[in-house]
Amino acid sequence: MDRPAIFVFDAYGTLFDVAAAARRLAADARFPMLAESWLGIAESWRLKQLQYSWIRALAGRHADFRQVTAEALDWTLEAHGLAGTPGLADELMALYDRLDAYPEVPDMLAALRAKGVKTAILSNGSPAMLESACRSAGIADLLDGVLSVEEVGIFKPAPAVYGLVETHFAVPPARTAFVSANGWDAAAGAGFGFRSIWVNRRGEPVDRLPWKPETVLDDLSSVPQLAG
Ligand code: LAC
Repeated sequence: MDRPAIFVFDAYGTLFDVAAAARRLAADARFPMLAESWLGIAESWRLKQLQYSWIRALAGRHADFRQVTAEALDWTLEAHGLAGTPGLADELMALYDRLDAYPEVPDMLAALRAKGVKTAILSNGSPAMLESACRSAGIADLLDGVLSVEEVGIFKPAPAVYGLVETHFAVPPARTAFVSANGWDAAAGAGFGFRSIWVNRRGEPVDRLPWKPETVLDDLSSVPQLAG
């Protein structure tokens, strides 16, 4: 098989740690109520965000990822009895633009580029969210492109989203390595024809979907070895 010409990464949960916003605010003296509940809030926020993205895609009612993320947070804070807490939602949304990248990300991207392959993001995130997160994590200069679903107006796993890679880089799916820590995204990417790599950070079972990732890794550090 030909070696991949480009490595395309999912953003949230894959390059950026989506729990980082709630974890950081839990250390802020203004929000003592987060000490116990930050992880539950982070997980519920993420799950609702994804559910809303899938429902909007199925129902043909697209809104950008910032709106979906804010609506998911609104639901989550009410579910945790924290609706109306002054500043809380605004602070969490602001931190979502400055999420930590996982520690291995910068070296991994640099190593891929040293091997002569391109690197890019393909994400549900809106262009402004992605630009801000990449800049804040210091990885903007390590990417050849940042592709947002906003260009096609529907969320993953709509095939039109995965098609953006070939549109922008003229690389066919069979020569595209697609890396996601979201099992469903890695599966759907495999179904689209990508060389799919699932980063299974939490040791979860493989999703029961019609497609399986070609490779499963614990984290991103060994991704450059797949570049040949
Ligand atoms: C993304 C979501 C799926 O970045 O994590 O596209």
